[in-house]
Amino acid sequence: MTAPDLPAELKVALDARLQGLSRVEAAGRAALISRTYRDGGGSGAIASEADALAYALARMPATYAAVTASLNALREIMPHFAPKSLLDVGAGPGTATWAAAEAFSSLQTFTLLDANSALRALALELGTGGARLRDINYQLGQARAALADAAAADLVVASYMIGELNDAERKALADLMWAKTRDTLLIVEPGTPAGYARIIAAREQLIAAGAHVAAPCPHDGKCPLVAPDWCHFTQRLPRSRAHKQIKGAELPFEDEKFSYVALTRAPVAQHPARVLAQPVVTKVEVTAKLCKSDGLAITKVPRRARADYARARRWRWGDAVMEEGQS
Ligand SMILES: C[S@@+](CC[C@H](N)C(=O)[O-])C[C@H]1O[C@@H](n2cnc3c(N)ncnc32)[C@H](O)[C@@H]1O
Repeated sequence: MTAPDLPAELKVALDARLQGLSRVEAAGRAALISRTYRDGGGSGAIASEADALAYALARMPATYAAVTASLNALREIMPHFAPKSLLDVGAGPGTATWAAAEAFSSLQTFTLLDANSALRALALELGTGGARLRDINYQLGQARAALADAAAADLVVASYMIGELNDAERKALADLMWAKTRDTLLIVEPGTPAGYARIIAAREQLIAAGAHVAAPCPHDGKCPLVAPDWCHFTQRLPRSRAHKQIKGAELPFEDEKFSYVALTRAPVAQHPARVLAQPVVTKVEVTAKLCKSDGLAITKVPRRARADYARARRWRWGDAVMEEGQS
């Protein structure tokens, strides 16, 4: 499985661009961009080269970690999936493309789409830092128009993107992305109730269009979670010195919450249960919240069931675990 921290080549490329940029100025730009996101303004605040770099320094490590965690979950369910082509929709600085390139050595062609010219320019610069992403095809334009002209790909990814669209655009884009998906479509969003709601809406829409869920859900049925609960996961990632400075943070790590869905053309062979929160381990039992093929369950594994208890002690939030009768 791929590690959640940025690949060395990408770190070097980002650090090289940091030379000559004041950390204080970058932190100010990153804070303004974050504020705009929080206020629902999207990526419109990223207008210059320095803005794009500030965004990448502040957010790329976390979105990379979330996409990597989602791809790791997908690879666990579909170990033989070896996509040759990638389409990264709303690619920004190329985060999901870097994550997919790390996860799948089979990938040969990389097509990226985005409306933001500053982020596109940064992605192209960062790509020249490594052999793998030197020849990416990065189309500048509105996603729907650019997608309509794009060739279909084995793997299509939209990472932290669909939240920037209104409901009608999002619905139309989901259909278009699915039409361009030869095998698997991965959508990743912030792990907030709103991010989850967008994931669930796309999931329902595309299941109705014939898609199957590979991860995280163990079924194609209705999500059993009821508000105020929502399905999300968390990925810990290291913070570099520059990352800490730009975020004005002390801790050497952060935990990124994310929601995701991976949809496939063909149903997957196995559907393990999914651990939906960090299990509680006591000397008496392990208590875990599981999404199972037949719905939600709070499973208790008593210590006296020694082998099962030993296995359940190792369960982590987000893991795929076998239900009774599965092997
Ligand atoms: C939060 S950024 C995420 C970037 C990248 N996928 C990542 O995970 O780091 C959202 C991206 O979606 C792009 N975007 C939003 N709406 C778009 C649209 N209608 N057409 C094309 N790109 C769009 C923005 O320009 C921005 O680069």
